[in-house]
Parts: sequence; structure tokens; C-alpha cells
Amino acid sequence: MKISVIGAGYVGLTTAACLAHIGHEVRCTDSDRGKLAVLESGRMPFYEPGLDAIVSAASANGRLRFVGAHEALAHGEALFICVGTPPLANGDADLSAIESVAREIARHAQGYRLIVEKSTVPVQTGQRLRRHLDIYGRAGLEYDVVSNPEFLREGSAVEDFFHPDRIVVGAESGRARRLMEDIYRPVLDQSFACPVHAACPPGRAPAAFIVTDTNSAELIKHASNSFLAMKISYINMVSDLCEAAGADVDSVVQGIGGDRRIGASFLRPGIGFGGFCFPKDLQAFVRIAETFGCDFGLLKQVEAINLARVDRFVARLRDELWTLAGKKIAVWGLAFKPETDDVRFAPAIAIIRRLLAEGAEIHAFDPQAMEKAQRELPAIHLHADAYAAAERADAALLLTEWKEFQQLDWARVAAAMARPLIFDGRNALPAPDLAAHGIQCVGIGKAVSTAPGKAVSAAPSKAVSTAPGKAVSAAPSKAAPVQTAAGPAHPRAALAEAGR
Ligand code: UGA
Repeated sequence: MKISVIGAGYVGLTTAACLAHIGHEVRCTDSDRGKLAVLESGRMPFYEPGLDAIVSAASANGRLRFVGAHEALAHGEALFICVGTPPLANGDADLSAIESVAREIARHAQGYRLIVEKSTVPVQTGQRLRRHLDIYGRAGLEYDVVSNPEFLREGSAVEDFFHPDRIVVGAESGRARRLMEDIYRPVLDQSFACPVHAACPPGRAPAAFIVTDTNSAELIKHASNSFLAMKISYINMVSDLCEAAGADVDSVVQGIGGDRRIGASFLRPGIGFGGFCFPKDLQAFVRIAETFGCDFGLLKQVEAINLARVDRFVARLRDELWTLAGKKIAVWGLAFKPETDDVRFAPAIAIIRRLLAEGAEIHAFDPQAMEKAQRELPAIHLHADAYAAAERADAALLLTEWKEFQQLDWARVAAAMARPLIFDGRNALPAPDLAAHGIQCVGIGKAVSTAPGKAVSAAPSKAVSTAPGKAVSAAPSKAAPVQTAAGPAHPRAALAEAGR
């Protein structure tokens, strides 16, 4: 089918390339001429594993082309709207890019068009789109508007496109539903040459094709992201409780995740969720609910707990280092999650801002996100690898759980640091290996492992406030137990503690 994709961001470019890969004739456009020029020249505007190969193969065989807006509107029987809906200051989604696409469609499109809303939008946006097209559309424009929310995760977007759990389509006519089924038929049947796996499908049940009305489909997207965010904040609170009570959150997750009704996914505790989806979608959902007279207090608390993660993490570090001013801190990981170069709303960025404000010196490394992070934080020092960043550091912080950080040479790390102290903000490091090399490791929701003879407090000594007048994490009533590792204490630790 002839398909045009409007917007070449994470969602648009992945959708365009993958639709071309499964056999459609795709034209992709973007209001950012610079981005189009980058794509036309065969380069990628961001890092997403596997996407570059699909884009270049589909460009080479002519199924994917990057074109101007008019050519795109003229080409596609189906028009996928994948433009950004960033948050406004009050938390509402900014729909001006959607409105501007609607205006262009109304002005230029003729004949039948299937208009597919893929951008994350508030419920009833489809209704508004229809009203707009009815009022401003050219004579002869026939259309359906469908909602087709995306569930792609950055870092595994290609895999998620080709092997989704479900495809949700909010359609009001049989014609629209049938066209959407045709578009996704190769994915539903898994009848394409999979660019991700040698043998497919990868042991998963076939994707469910869920057809709803458009309002429900729009709501499904916000409700899904908010639910996942809720799981993360829930386990983060449980992890605070574990620290205070001397329990181990990993064991707790194993125990509760073993219940199929709960499941273990999205129960990884840490420094909080970031990225351009959860934080903004959560806020938007609260605002949408308010618009309809529902006070979604539950989600407000999810957001408050998440914001408090940064405060709590910095407080624990300060507690351990006594003061942060003048301390050399190594940061491993800047992206909001592994396998992406995206630093938008990354907890790592928020933590570094706080540390810089308190006078710490930041030495960072990230496999992909350093260029983008440097634009946000010009004051940080960037290094070629994790070891260089850790050189003479008073502490190292694991803020993004890239695989390569889990396999470091711990003897080399311990020798490089002024004080072998690692804060594992993602519970991703092999704590026993670190302890065996005399490295004190402070994880989330667990006992602190340390070298012999050194007592370590496992949590900040005071409550961390989230919003004015509110405290979400109570101070622990007693220090969590200290797990003592075998092996000598690091010789430089005393020096570092003396406040160098
Ligand atoms: C999320 C959803 O997972 C996708 O389904 C959705 O399509 C996408 O938003 C979107 O709306 O576009 P994404 O933000 O790319 O995808 O990444 P996630 O894997 O969901 O992670 C989000 C954040 O939560 C990251 O900062 C991650 O570190 C954090 N997280 C995730 C945790 O702290 N704990 C967990 O257990 C899982």
C-alpha cells in the first residue's frame, strides 16, 4: 500500500522504515528540513539499534523515500501522523504540530485518505481531527481517522515493531479497520523476512489485533504508559522500605513477580523513570482526567515518588561523601536507558545537575549519549571509557545500565579510583564481584556491601521531600545491615574519607 509518514522522530522513522521493510511504498516527511537532509544523505539523526540497516536497505530498494510535505500528502492512501506532542508548562500535551498537519491535509489532500493517529494524543483528539477536516477539507476529500497507538520502546523499537504483543486500532468504519489489517497483515502473520532474528517468531504468541472505538484506543496509550510508570514507582517505594527494614528488594521482586497476575517486568527499582514518554504521558493523563472531572491522585503520587528518586540518591551520596563540593564523581551512563542516545528527562542528567550545583566535579562516560548530554551539561568532563572516567574518583555512579558496565574489570576500577565506592543506581552490577575487589557498593533497596571494618549507612538520614510540604520517603528507623566482603579495604579509602 502507498503510505506516507509525517514526522521522522523515533516513532515516525521506525514506523516508516519497518512499514517499508514489510512491503509498503513509504514516503516519510518532517518539518525539520535539516533532519530530512541527514536522512537523504544516508545518515541517522539518532541511535536506535538495527534501524540504520533497515533504513538503508529500504532506501536502496526504493520502498522508502524522504520527501517534502506536499509530495508525502499526495502519495499516501494512508497518512501516519507521527509528530511530537511535547508537554506544555501546565502538563497538557502541545497539539500544535497535530493541528498543523490536519491543516495541511485539509488544504491539499484529495480523494480517500486513511488518517492514522500514531502520535500520543489526549482522548477525543480523533474527534477533533474529524471536525477540523469536515470544516476545512477540500471538496472531494473522503477520509477515515483511526487511532493506532504505538508501544515501541527506545532501544528495542525495531524488535517491538516486528514482534508486538498487540496492535491496537481505534476505528469507526469497516473500511478503516480492513485497511489497517491489510497494512499490518505481514506482522500479524509474521510473514516478512525478519531483520532482527535469524529464526522467527521468537517463541511469542502472535500479536493480538485489538479493534476499539477511537476514544478507547487513544486512552489505551496513556493508560498503558501510566500503569507501567506506576509499577516502577511502586517498586521504588518498596525498595525504600527494604533499605529501612533490612530486606533485599531483588528477592522481594522475585517473590512478587512470580505471581503471574503481577509479573516481574517493570519492577526494576532505581533512580526513577525518564525519557520523553513516561514523565510527559503521566502528566498529560492526570490533566486529561482533570478535564473530565476525575482527580487521578494515584498518578500524581506516582510522579511525586519518581521526582523524589533523584533527591534520595543525591542525599545518599552526600551522606557517604560527607560533602559534595570539590569531590570528583565518575558517572557511568547518561542516556535515560541503555541502547539509546536519548537524554531527554534522563534521571542521570537531573542527578548531575544537582551534583554540579553542589560543587562536585563530574567525569562521565556513556557509549552513545555523550554528544547529547554535553549540550545539556557543558560543565561535565567526558571520557573515552568507564575506566578513564573513574580515574582518581571519590565515587562512581552507575546511572544507566549499559551491558558493558556490568562486565568491567573490577580490579582495574578499584585501582583507578581514589576511593573504591560505587553507587549502583540500577542494581545492575555484580555486587559480590565488586566486594571481592574491595569495592564498597551501594545499591537500591538492599544492604550495602563493603570492605571489612567500615560501617556504612544504607539510606539518607532524613526524609526526602518531593513537592512543597510533602515527604514521600520516610527516614529509615535504623541502618540497614551491612554485608561485609572478604578482602582488604582499599588503601586510598581513608584518604578519600578524610575529605580530599
Ligand atoms: C515507553 C513504553 O515502554 C513503550 O511501550 C511506549 O511506546 C513508549 O514509552 C512511548 O510512549 O513512546 P520507553 O520510554 O522507550 O518506552 O522506555 P521504557 O523501557 O519503557 O523505560 C522508561 C523508563 O523507565 C526508563 O528510564 C527506564 O530506565 C525506566 N524503568 C523501566 C525503570 O526504572 N524500571 C523498570 O522496571 C523499567
